[in-house]
Amino acid sequence: MVPVAGIYIHIPFCSQFCNYCDFYSTTMLGKRDGFTEALVAEIVVRSVSFIQKGFKVGTVYIGGGTPSVLSAGQLGRILESVLSRYPVSVSEVAPPASDSVSLMASPEITVELNPDDVSLGYARDLFSLGFNRVSLGVQSFNDAHLSWMNRRHNSAKALEAFGNLRKAGFRNISIDLIFGFESLSTEEWRRNIELAIELSPEHLSCYQLGIEKGTKLYRSYMDGSYDPMPDEGSNSQYALLQELLSQAGYVQYEVSSFCKPGFESRHNSSYWDFTPYFGFGPSAHTFDGVCREWNDKGINKYILGWGQGIRGFKSELLSLRDHLNEFIMLSLRTVKGMETLELSRLLDNYAGSSDSAQTTPQIAEFKTNLHTLLEQRHLHQTPTHIQIPPHNLFLSDTLIRTLIVASLG
Ligand SMILES: C[S@@+](CC[C@H](N)C(=O)[O-])C[C@H]1O[C@@H](n2cnc3c(N)ncnc32)[C@H](O)[C@@H]1O
Ligand code: SF4
Repeated sequence: MVPVAGIYIHIPFCSQFCNYCDFYSTTMLGKRDGFTEALVAEIVVRSVSFIQKGFKVGTVYIGGGTPSVLSAGQLGRILESVLSRYPVSVSEVAPPASDSVSLMASPEITVELNPDDVSLGYARDLFSLGFNRVSLGVQSFNDAHLSWMNRRHNSAKALEAFGNLRKAGFRNISIDLIFGFESLSTEEWRRNIELAIELSPEHLSCYQLGIEKGTKLYRSYMDGSYDPMPDEGSNSQYALLQELLSQAGYVQYEVSSFCKPGFESRHNSSYWDFTPYFGFGPSAHTFDGVCREWNDKGINKYILGWGQGIRGFKSELLSLRDHLNEFIMLSLRTVKGMETLELSRLLDNYAGSSDSAQTTPQIAEFKTNLHTLLEQRHLHQTPTHIQIPPHNLFLSDTLIRTLIVASLG
C-alpha cells in the first residue's frame, strides 16, 4: 500500500495577537509577499524528498497564524504549488467542486479562517480554488469575551462569516470555541453551545483556555489580575458541552473534537494515528514515521534562507521509548483509544531495544499503573482497545501523565 502523508502549511501572520495564543506569528503584514515566495520555494524544493519517500498526499491543512490575512490569490498559489508537484493518492482524488461535495471529499483540503476576513467574495474565491473544508475561529458568541480575548471580530461578524461560507458552497465547516475561563458563566457557555448548534457546523473544536508562557494572559496570571477558573468549573462546562452536542447528534472522537457522523477531521486524525506529515513554513513540524523535524521560527530568517534555497530546521530521531510514549499520549486522546496489539508491539520493541536493567522496571511500572487505572475504572478496556471513558476525557492529561514511560527523550 502506498504510504499516505498529510501536508501542513503554517501562515505566520496575525493582524493582532489574541491574549491567550502562543502559536508562532508576526503582525508584520508587509512581509506577506516575500513570505509567499519563500513558502512556494520550500514546497517546491522539498517535493523531491516527499516523492523519494514514496508518499502520496491524503490531506492538506493551511493553518496559522491567520491564513485569511493572505489574499485568495496567494492562498491559491500556495495550494497549486502543492497539488501540481505532490502526488495525490489515487483513491483520494477530489470530486469536482460542487454543492454535493461528498462526506469524504478527497483530498481533504482545509484552511483556517478568522471571521473578520470572510466576505462572501473571499469565501467564493476559496471554494473555487478547491478548498473543501474550513475551520472558522469563532471562539465565542459573546462580544465582551471576544473583546477581552482581543479578537478583531464580534458575534454578528462570526454569524455573517458562517453564512457567507455556506452561501459560497462549503459543506464541511468546523468552528473553534473556547471555554473554562474566569468570566465565562455556565449560562453564557450554554448559550454559546446553543448558538453553535443552531448554525449546525459539521465539526466543532472546543478548547479549555490554556495559559501559555509569553502571552498577555500569562502575564495577567502572573501579576494576579487573572484568576483561572477552578478545574471543577471547567470540568462541568466540558460535561455540558458533551451533553448538549450529543443531544444534537454530534459524536465526540477526541478530547476537543466533535462532529456530525462522517465528518471527523482526517488531517487531525492523522496526527493521532501516526500518519506521516510534512510541515512547511516557519515553526512547522515534519514527521516521516521515524524522524521529527521542525523548521526554525522567524519570518526574516525564513524569507532570507529560502531566497538562497537554505532550510533552517532541527531534527531528532524518535527513540523506541519516545515512540511508545507518543503512541500512549496521542492515541489516548481519541475516543477510540489505544490499540492493545500495537501497545504490546511497542512495549516488546522497547524491551528489546536497550539495557534490560533499565527497560524492565520501567515497563513493569507502566503495567502496574495501567492495571491500577483500569481497576479504578479511570480507563476502560474493550477486546481491542484501552480507552479513557468520555466522562473522564477532561482528565486525560493527568491520566496520560501517569502512564508515560520515564521522561520523553
Ligand atoms: C492557532 S489558532 C489559528 C486559528 C485562527 N487564527 C483563529 O484565531 O481563529 C487555532 C485555534 O487554537 C485555539 N487556541 C489557541 N491558543 C489557545 C489557548 N491558549 N487555549 C485554548 N485554545 C487556544 C483557538 O481556538 C484557535 O482558534
Ligand atoms: S488565535 Fe489565531 S488570530 Fe489569535 S493570535 Fe492565535 S493565530 Fe492569531
